[in-house]
Amino acid sequence: RFRNDMSGETVLITAGGTREALDPVRFLGNRSSGKMGYALAEAAQRRGARVILISAPTALQPPSGCEIVPVTTTGEMRAAVLARLPEASLIIKAAAVADYRPRIREEQKMKRTGPLTIDFEPTEDILAEVAARKTPGVLVIGFAAETENAIAHGRDKLLRKGADAIVLNDVSREGIGFDSDRNAATFLTRNTAIDMPEMTKRELAHRILDEVLVLRRPRLVL
Ligand code: PMT
Repeated sequence: RFRNDMSGETVLITAGGTREALDPVRFLGNRSSGKMGYALAEAAQRRGARVILISAPTALQPPSGCEIVPVTTTGEMRAAVLARLPEASLIIKAAAVADYRPRIREEQKMKRTGPLTIDFEPTEDILAEVAARKTPGVLVIGFAAETENAIAHGRDKLLRKGADAIVLNDVSREGIGFDSDRNAATFLTRNTAIDMPEMTKRELAHRILDEVLVLRRPRLVL
């Protein structure tokens, strides 16, 4: 597997869960550990690609040989992705991106004074923006974390966001997905659904890259 089949590719990978501050000491986050995105970064690097890893906070050791761009919020991740986009031949969005941010970030630590209502505003959809700016020869791969009707919601995301493929995770299944060292997925394109049964995230990263390289091959049109 560790042949140089990705040499010449510059892969931009996002990983981890973005955080949106409520006040100087609190944030809204999610359960992403960054393991899936880091496994993809390491696998692509080993296969000869240049890797730019845009990472939300994680407890992980950065994979060697990858350029790491640390970010915290969705806004920072978006800015970093758009800044590095012109270099990338392949974009893989494994990050769990906050869909909402508090409309107001309090300057001082909030006091506990009774019931609290927080006003949220939607964040930008980085994947949709990246797919809209795609130039010929560039592939955009998204992820989707779903808890019900996974295939239907995954297909909807693929079409709505304009990605070339979506790696669909059914995160309602015990023992895989968020934070685990193991995962299972369905690799969805416009006309295929490839089942990738439970395995380590390192193995799954290579399986995903195998299918991405299939998308690179010229297709026979009959
Ligand atoms: O990090 P781990 O602990 O290893 O867990 C891995 C994982 C389960 C987090 C990962 O494999 C995964 O599923 N990542 C995507 C999680 C997610 O945010 O899914 P989503 O369905 O909300 O988003 C769909 C896609 O749009 C994703 O590619 C996401 O990066 C992107 N997105 C979402 C919202 C937003 N504002 N901007 C985006 O670009």
